[in-house]
Amino acid sequence: MSRVLSGIQPTGDLHLGNLLGAVRNWVEDQHTDDSFYCVVDLHALTVPKGPGELAAASLELAQCLIASGLDPEVCTLFVQSHVPQHAELGWIMQCVCGFGQLERMTQFKDKSERRDFVSAALFTYPALQAADILLYDADRVPVGEDQRQHIELTRDLAERFNHRYGDTFTVPEASIPRAGARVMDLQNPTDKMSKSADSPAGTVLLTDPPDAVIKKFKRAVTDSDGVVAFDVANKPGVTNLLSILGAATGRDPEALAGEYTQYGPLKADTGEAVVALLEPLQMRLAELRQDPAETSRLLRVGADKAGAVAESTMERVRAAVGFLPR
Ligand code: TYM
Repeated sequence: MSRVLSGIQPTGDLHLGNLLGAVRNWVEDQHTDDSFYCVVDLHALTVPKGPGELAAASLELAQCLIASGLDPEVCTLFVQSHVPQHAELGWIMQCVCGFGQLERMTQFKDKSERRDFVSAALFTYPALQAADILLYDADRVPVGEDQRQHIELTRDLAERFNHRYGDTFTVPEASIPRAGARVMDLQNPTDKMSKSADSPAGTVLLTDPPDAVIKKFKRAVTDSDGVVAFDVANKPGVTNLLSILGAATGRDPEALAGEYTQYGPLKADTGEAVVALLEPLQMRLAELRQDPAETSRLLRVGADKAGAVAESTMERVRAAVGFLPR
């Protein structure tokens, strides 16, 4: 059975981009692959937060993931800091990774702009991400388009390590969905939808009530020529709506374009399709919130399963790099 690993940062509510670009595919993969999904709290620490926020955000995100359909009895769902081997291998991957390679990461450039404080860890972040993946000998890493460069780097680091120290790691592949890989902001459709967007009206959250979702789609920025066409370069707003509607309904976005002559009905149908997608998730989330101790228990079980795999990889790694056995 092939092995899958992916991760998500506990930095605010899950949004439609996370759901369509990643989590929805994880839910499918868990039934066909040996799947590991990680709430990456060490990564979230690269940008400072208020005290106490991180633990709450990690638990909440785990609940959102379970509500979205991850079944901890089927996959291995865990929190990164519960498995200290991530930090250990993260250091070793920093030693394998070139400074110039990190300088080329576009996510670092984006994330370090307009910040007063840029931590060293924000820069070395992709080395830790490589460790997350390589610890589990993942064959495939299901992610959205924005993570492609990080997975390419992971492949390079795995190959360099294997060349330098002998065959140790599986070289993973990125697995990027055909539909939903890059959901754009509804207000600024040339930027990707993200939790840190300037305007909350551009981001649809898993927890948004139906009327808020409908309103966000109604107000989505399109353009003034009134033609419904799938054209990323010239009609980013309309194309984003078609892509979301396609991803939410399993239909081809280009074919959908032929069914609309006006923006109003396209916006209304997309809003309704997203409400239908989110409603059952929100109901499950409300139930899960009644019993946070149960989610914590499931995460402990996940950490035990993940920790066993991670430790066996680390035994190989420690021997390969030549640490003195204790
Ligand atoms: P993060 O937390 O930003 O996003 C989690 C997942 O959601 C996808 N995604 C999107 N997909 C489509 N459209 C969007 N607008 C959109 N926004 C986010 C991301 O591609 C991702 O798959 N560095 C990673 C977390 C990470 C990780 C890993 C991923 C840490 N270790 C190991 C895979 C394997 C991140 O910040 O994702």
